[in-house]
Amino acid sequence: MSESINSHPDCSRSVQNGMKMWGGRFAAGPSSSMDALNKSISFDQRLWQVDIDGSVAYAKGLNLAGILNSTELSAIITGLKQVKEEWKNDQFVLQETDEDIHTANERRLTEIIGPVGGKLHTGRSRNDQVATDLRMWLKDEIVIIEGLLVKILDVLCNRAETELDIVMPGYTHLQRAQPVRWSHFLMSYAVSFKSDYVRLNSLLPEIDELPLGSGAVAGNPLGINREYLASLLAFSNVALNSMHAVSDRDFVAQFLQWAALTGIHLSRLSEDLIIYSTKEFRFITMSDQYSSGSSLMPQKKNPDVLELLRGKAGRLIGNHTGFMCTLKGLPSTYSKDLQEDKEPLFDSVDQIKIMLDAAHGVLATLTINANACRSALSFDMLATDVAYYLVRKGVPFREAHHIVGKLVVLAEGKQCHLKDIALKDLQSIDHRFADDYAQIWDFEKSMEQYSATGSTAHAAVWQQIATIREFIMNTKERFTIEQ
Ligand code: ARG
Repeated sequence: MSESINSHPDCSRSVQNGMKMWGGRFAAGPSSSMDALNKSISFDQRLWQVDIDGSVAYAKGLNLAGILNSTELSAIITGLKQVKEEWKNDQFVLQETDEDIHTANERRLTEIIGPVGGKLHTGRSRNDQVATDLRMWLKDEIVIIEGLLVKILDVLCNRAETELDIVMPGYTHLQRAQPVRWSHFLMSYAVSFKSDYVRLNSLLPEIDELPLGSGAVAGNPLGINREYLASLLAFSNVALNSMHAVSDRDFVAQFLQWAALTGIHLSRLSEDLIIYSTKEFRFITMSDQYSSGSSLMPQKKNPDVLELLRGKAGRLIGNHTGFMCTLKGLPSTYSKDLQEDKEPLFDSVDQIKIMLDAAHGVLATLTINANACRSALSFDMLATDVAYYLVRKGVPFREAHHIVGKLVVLAEGKQCHLKDIALKDLQSIDHRFADDYAQIWDFEKSMEQYSATGSTAHAAVWQQIATIREFIMNTKERFTIEQ
């Protein structure tokens, strides 16, 4: 780390001297601990591409405003192209003095094309630059994440369709409650992931506002046409207020919250599947691809992937909570605290992508054990249907519930199932019981009663699948329009 004196006003020379882009007023370089704290290049270098694209657009904007002539513009564009190639081919050599991706790219540009490179930053600040880069980067990532969500929806619909006849216990309080279709269970998560998609997509309009041209705080004094910049960079709008634009990270906070909530959905699904994969349940068998063994117990097959999904949800919540704490109490406009936006954002994007991909893999490869699911059903789970039987005969539900309670006591006394109580004993409790009582005890028939929209009857679950499929179709149309 150089501690030499920065005496040269020429930006390219000062870099060669091992000094900072902003080093003109400084007599000494930063201390090594300041430098270590300050540097973001180790993680923000992943913004290299959007940073260069933003610079190309800005150079064109400077040309339109008469700040760069066409020779200077083409030199800058050619130089930036070379910088891009170097990044692409893994040939970009970072220097000790490269503080962040913005200074690194500008340093390299100036090395390639000479002092004219120093004109690129005219009227621009890293404040509007970084805010622009981050929005551009996140917009692209969101499209990728939406694609992963669609894949999960797709596999859930496929399974739900082919496995529509598989019956399992529906649980409340993790106690067996009523028989439901396995597909009904699958579609319950499809609804969560569909909402995740909708919520994620709804973040886009806010991200789609261009900060570039806001400068450090006050705006741009050189006649930069920001609408022109927006059109070059495919932003729908320009940010309305430069003071807001340079420091607004609400979109980061919102994305982190989105990732945390989606992580929670993946975590809850994982918890269900972990339970269903135990030897006690045996409802599902995880594929070997998504399981691991024990180093000690040879018989073990552990659902590690599901545990990791559950564990990572905590990390995503932490990223959100931590960044909210960073934002809280910041004075208006840019403060360096905002550099703390990137690591949680990059991490949440990376993690949620791996998580969605792994969840897709698990769902696509697990085996459902229809017999085990069915064997877990017991006739007591149809007690509610006995109450509905009486309701259909005109008994008020409260009274019917009470009568069935008495039946339960009677069955316990006789040590038999509700199903096996003799007709005369039934009638001793209520005269409205008749021969058709025997028809209650059929799980398929039970489920078919639940035919209202959203319920577990065949047609009702089918409708849920069809609705999600239609949703997928519409998102695909959106993807094709955008590509
Ligand atoms: N690396 C910085 C960040 O990520 C860039 C902006 C620096 N701005 C400044 N005024 N020092 O926030």
